[in-house]
Amino acid sequence: MKVAAKLCNLFTTTYFLLLFSGLGVDSKDYDYFATTKCTTEPHKAQYGGGIIVNPEFDHNIESWTVFGNGTMEERLSNNGNRFIVASNRTQTLDSFSQKIQLKKELIYMFSGWFQLSEGRDLVSVVFKINDSELVYGGHVIAKNGCWSLLKGGIVANFSSSAEIIFETNNPSVEIWVDSVSLQPFTKEEWRSHQDNNIERVRKSRVRFHVSNVNETAIEGAKVVIKQTKANFPFGCGMNYHILTNRDYQEWFVSRFKYTTFTNQMKWYSTEIIQGQENYTIPDAMLKFTKENGISVRGHNIFWDYEKYQPKWVNSLSPDELREAAAKRIKSVVTRYKGELIAWDVMNENVHFHFYEDKLGENASEIYYLRAYELDPKTTLFMNEYNTIEYSGDKVASPANYFNKLKEILQSPEASEMSFAIGLQCHFASGRPNLAYMRSGLDFLGETGFPIWLTETSVDPQAEQAEYFEEILREGYSHPAVKGIIMFAGPAQAGFNSTLLADANFQTTPTGKVVDKLISEWGTGPYTTIADGRGIVDISLHHGDYDVIVTHPLTQQTEKLNISVRKECSQKNIHVKMHA
Ligand SMILES: *[C@@H]1O[C@H](CO)[C@@H](O)[C@H](O)[C@H]1NC(C)=O
Ligand SMILES: *[C@@H]1O[C@H](CO)[C@@H](O)[C@H](O)[C@H]1NC(C)=O
Ligand SMILES: *[C@@H]1O[C@H](CO)[C@@H](O)[C@H](O)[C@H]1NC(C)=O
Ligand SMILES: *[C@@H]1O[C@H](CO)[C@@H](O)[C@H](O)[C@H]1NC(C)=O
Ligand SMILES: *[C@@H]1O[C@H](CO)[C@@H](O)[C@H](O)[C@H]1NC(C)=O
Ligand SMILES: *[C@@H]1O[C@H](CO)[C@@H](O)[C@H](O)[C@H]1NC(C)=O
Ligand SMILES: *[C@@H]1O[C@H](CO)[C@@H](O)[C@H](O)[C@H]1NC(C)=O
Ligand SMILES: *[C@@H]1O[C@H](CO)[C@@H](O)[C@H](O)[C@H]1NC(C)=O
Ligand SMILES: *[C@@H]1O[C@H](CO)[C@@H](O)[C@H](O)[C@H]1NC(C)=O
Repeated sequence: MKVAAKLCNLFTTTYFLLLFSGLGVDSKDYDYFATTKCTTEPHKAQYGGGIIVNPEFDHNIESWTVFGNGTMEERLSNNGNRFIVASNRTQTLDSFSQKIQLKKELIYMFSGWFQLSEGRDLVSVVFKINDSELVYGGHVIAKNGCWSLLKGGIVANFSSSAEIIFETNNPSVEIWVDSVSLQPFTKEEWRSHQDNNIERVRKSRVRFHVSNVNETAIEGAKVVIKQTKANFPFGCGMNYHILTNRDYQEWFVSRFKYTTFTNQMKWYSTEIIQGQENYTIPDAMLKFTKENGISVRGHNIFWDYEKYQPKWVNSLSPDELREAAAKRIKSVVTRYKGELIAWDVMNENVHFHFYEDKLGENASEIYYLRAYELDPKTTLFMNEYNTIEYSGDKVASPANYFNKLKEILQSPEASEMSFAIGLQCHFASGRPNLAYMRSGLDFLGETGFPIWLTETSVDPQAEQAEYFEEILREGYSHPAVKGIIMFAGPAQAGFNSTLLADANFQTTPTGKVVDKLISEWGTGPYTTIADGRGIVDISLHHGDYDVIVTHPLTQQTEKLNISVRKECSQKNIHVKMHA
């Protein structure tokens, strides 16, 4: 018996790339300032404006009215482009509006181009729902002198009228707007877009040719394909219960190859008393993960939230803190050097600034550079909440996240740093705003840095399982997302928000969603039969597979392993069988 497995000709190159780009950065030639690129003229309205009437102001200000105080007028750019201006504003919401009708359960993508008459400021799109509630739909830092794109959206909980309005923090500037678009999607359309993306970015076509040694096709050959390892990191947080609870161990190991320790590496866990470091628990957890082939994201070196310091830290003087923090970063990073796939260096530094307040504005930057110096190979993450999960949180909006990112990477020393974007993805109650989530991923994805959803969860509610599935699919289908970790688990390990197994280790409805997705995104097995040409065509999620080909007459089998990678959009595998 002889197997001629003709691999996609990029295979050897691919292997090389994968070895050295642990988290999926294919090239260093990205221009992460592209995202803030401001254009001299706005682009056309997306989707022709969607349900917006007169989206490009070609018909003057028709269908738009003044909102609040102020005035509204059209203007022409030097190139003859017509846009609209809100002037004489005195309140942050003074602008102009268009009335629309929101339909229950539809997902609305918003986009628009913005400029200010002076300076730079955060501009938000706001939906005034049913003439009362104000719901944010997205934010952008707009400037004077060029146009910035605001992308966002809203999910309608109920059918109602709404008004689209615009907000700046500084009410004394003019807001210039052009090419406004609001495009509704049904849940089915949204899902179909996700599925198309998954097909495009997570899967490749594989063609098996099954033949006799003399090249004649073997019709009816059975080809059974089973995934042994998924390429996409889809993992789950883990805590110290893993050391003692055998059911938890089995539950975890049978599902996941990637994890983050929820609290055990944090400074408040490893140095409860100043000067007495104790790594017993994280060391033991790391030993367990190593024995089971599980990769670990390090979480975290520092946390910028005052509330979550070791108790003794809050009373230190700035100089004492600087000294203690220097010891901390050196200790934990060198201890785990080469053992982790990532470090969250300064957790939640878009919302909080404990270290900046005590040590100076560039505290975050200093610790990213220091971590890089101590362990140059491990990818260093920012890690923030609400950035894509909650449009009402301006502070952590993608625009502000990007600002912090630029600050951390501003120095030439950072240019070669392996850096990545961590988005926690803790969703609260209510239907997730997938339009806002996708817009944020689009925006941050344009930086070219890999994005991981690092702590994905959804608060308990009747629709928890359904919402969790929507969020996980949105993450998996987005091309910029290179990994997903859930902060979820079994009740016996104390997970009480996103519970995947109950107190008796019975899989919860939310746990069933996770198991379904693990299976759908890879495991198989898929049983297929070769056609009259001896051919099997199949689209497989990127990963490693065991394949067993069985001759229809002799029942002889041929076993082979294949590796399906995104670099090969089509892979041909020739299996020759002796009769
Ligand atoms: C308009 O401006 C006046 C004076 O500044 C203020 O009292 C009033 O509340 C404003 N109206 C709105 C709708 O903002
Ligand atoms: C409103 O602003 C425009 C400039 O955009 C100015 O020409 C006009 O005089 C202002 N109107 C009032 C009533 O202040
Ligand atoms: C919308 O407003 C009307 C009138 O204020 C009210 O009767 C209705 O309940 C509101 N609808 C929702 C869904 O809040
Ligand atoms: C090719 O090989 C198969 C199996 O050995 C045999 O049945 C068939 O007749 C051969 N065909 C030709 C054209 O040689
Ligand atoms: C370190 O932590 C472990 C686990 O909590 C504990 O058993 C041990 O006593 C600690 N060691 C010291 C020296 O405190
Ligand atoms: C941080 O800021 C301080 C004070 O401005 C400066 O001395 C130091 O060089 C800066 N560090 C970095 C890494 O930019
Ligand atoms: C939908 O419900 C969620 C949660 O109750 C809320 O945060 C959001 O603002 C609502 N959206 C709209 C458009 O009312
Ligand atoms: C859920 O778990 C967290 C962390 O263990 C704990 O602080 C919280 O009190 C628990 N909540 C409930 C409702 O049990
Ligand atoms: C295929 O991979 C499995 C591990 O998944 C290994 O045990 C087996 O030897 C491999 N077979 C071939 C033909 O390489």
